[in-house]
Amino acid sequence: SADVTQLLLSRIRDVPDHPEPGVMFKDITPLLADPAAFSALTDALAEIAVRTGATKIVGLEARGFILGAPVAVRAGLGFVPVRKAGKLPGATLSQVYDLEYGSAEIEVHAEDLAPGDRVLVVDDVLATGGTAEASLRLIRRAGAEVAGVAVLMELGFLDGRARLEPALDGAPLETLLKV
Ligand code: PRP
Ligand code: MG
Repeated sequence: SADVTQLLLSRIRDVPDHPEPGVMFKDITPLLADPAAFSALTDALAEIAVRTGATKIVGLEARGFILGAPVAVRAGLGFVPVRKAGKLPGATLSQVYDLEYGSAEIEVHAEDLAPGDRVLVVDDVLATGGTAEASLRLIRRAGAEVAGVAVLMELGFLDGRARLEPALDGAPLETLLKV
């Protein structure tokens, strides 16, 4: 609703020149510290999980853990962490992806996703879309289905939506705020 949108927007802090000059950082810590806003956000994302028929929530380290874990609990679904490389102790699938400068690598425990799972990816921000795109590759490589991607904020000017589109393969990208 418009009220929820306003509440969420009002709890995101713009921090200029972080982490480097020229970048406007979107700080969600005021939202997390406000129980009404955090709960409203969790409800909105859990509603997407139910509507898309998700059976599992994947959260993307680190901020996707904070948002995704309560969504999983509220929707009655399991939570699967996609971590930065080198953190998970078991057998993993890993995916390398390009950043503006250099590359990054994320991993998931192979046993946490299987054919028959329908996975909703949760994160705070869609920027270039590189992280979300890599997570969709992991999910499909594990044999699971993609229910969709749900993020709090989409940075429209970077057009992550266009980058993500082929990997979505028809699954929805749901963004609560366009900033
Ligand atoms: C940030 C953000 C998203 C990602 C979006 O994570 O939380 O996960 O970048 O960027 P992209 O769409 O260009 O891939 P980051 O790894 O910077 O930090 P975090 O560990 O605090 O989540
Ligand atoms: Mg992140």
